[in-house]
Amino acid sequence: MPTLAIHNGRVIDPALGRDGIADVVIVDGRISRVGPNEGDMVVEAERIDATGLIVSPGFVDLHTHLREPGFEYKETIATGTLAAARGGYTTVCAMPNTSPALDSRSAIESVLREAESTGRVRVLPIGCITVGRKGQELAPQGELVEAGAVAISDDGDAVADPSLMRHALAYSTRFGLPVAQHCEDPSLVRDGQMHEGWVATRLGLRGRPASAEETMVARDIALAELSGAHLHICHISTAGSVALVAAARARGARVTAEVTPHHLTLTHEEVAFAEDYRSIRYNTSAKVNPPLREEADLVALGEALRDGIIDAIATDHAPHATSDKEIEFNLASPGLTMLETAFGLSMRLVHDGVLTLPVLIERMTAGPVRAWRLDERPGLAGLGSLAPGAPADVVILDPNAEWPVEPERFASKGKNTPLGGRTLRGRVLATVYGGQLVYETERVGAY
Ligand code: DOR
Repeated sequence: MPTLAIHNGRVIDPALGRDGIADVVIVDGRISRVGPNEGDMVVEAERIDATGLIVSPGFVDLHTHLREPGFEYKETIATGTLAAARGGYTTVCAMPNTSPALDSRSAIESVLREAESTGRVRVLPIGCITVGRKGQELAPQGELVEAGAVAISDDGDAVADPSLMRHALAYSTRFGLPVAQHCEDPSLVRDGQMHEGWVATRLGLRGRPASAEETMVARDIALAELSGAHLHICHISTAGSVALVAAARARGARVTAEVTPHHLTLTHEEVAFAEDYRSIRYNTSAKVNPPLREEADLVALGEALRDGIIDAIATDHAPHATSDKEIEFNLASPGLTMLETAFGLSMRLVHDGVLTLPVLIERMTAGPVRAWRLDERPGLAGLGSLAPGAPADVVILDPNAEWPVEPERFASKGKNTPLGGRTLRGRVLATVYGGQLVYETERVGAY
């Protein structure tokens, strides 16, 4: 593989505490050297000029729905990983709510095989907590780990039965597996369509209360503390949940958490369109579980992300077909397509002064890797950093470039976003995966 030299960018590598102008030299798909003028020393290299731009480790997503096998009309491993590359992601953890669900060795292996042949970036599969995600009996965790699962989750649904969840957590300690829970108590959200608040009342839609999430976060923290298991809270969305996680961590519980770009930046008001008060109507592209919440929740989530109580930004990229979305609200599938807008949307927190750019990058690189100890897996030492010997996964960013969101131009099959037509500030210009350019814009041509 030819040597690649990325010249003169501001290299931000939070894992190593590096922030300064440097060159990044890549040899044989691994990081070779990082430092001022290092690129000048190499001959016969492909070169990229990153002057005036940010160079960071490739982003790592703990929560991606790739939909394959079974829902290829919504997304495939090929289209989802191309969307990932365009969003700056070089590693995506694939959720198991496929058909069949990823609850067996063969299902995990088939995802890895497909990713090997059609994937543009690294795919790390997540296995199910329960067989078929039905919440009735435990999936074979040892077999899932051996096949390559990096965590287990029934995401899309919570494991409702507390006793089963207790056993899942206790059993996971044998394998050191994170148990990633979708925290919404089914009996409290039944038929609920959006956040329980004034917008739901105004639209006449049944609500999903914040307490549906918080009761399950509290329950699962208690259960995890019982066995010392690693509980991971998926897409945390309320101020109350943040307080519970903060208290648990202060006690030394092994609890990690992720938050999505949309829960950080958008409120339940997105669900309502209104040209004037007479024409208020709903927008299914903002329907998601857990739902978009209120301003006070956004503030608490941003602060918790800043303070490290929330470990990672995760996209919950949930692509759906138009026929799943442009229908009656209660029939519409929940979820937002997010990989291609995650960086630009999350950059709002930097432009608004909530996070510094290095902290944002940490929560998209080293933070998720540390949360799930992904760098302890074979071949992944140094993942989420630009340490010598690490996989050469690098992203080049312009934090100030403004660009219009045009869903029809997404690589993802999912066009389901409430951001269409809006302008985001913060753009991914190029993505290098394993030493190869997998995405580049006209701004950073190789020479
Ligand atoms: O809105 C959601 N969509 N939340 C989930 O947890 C699952 C996801 C999906 O798979 O579409």
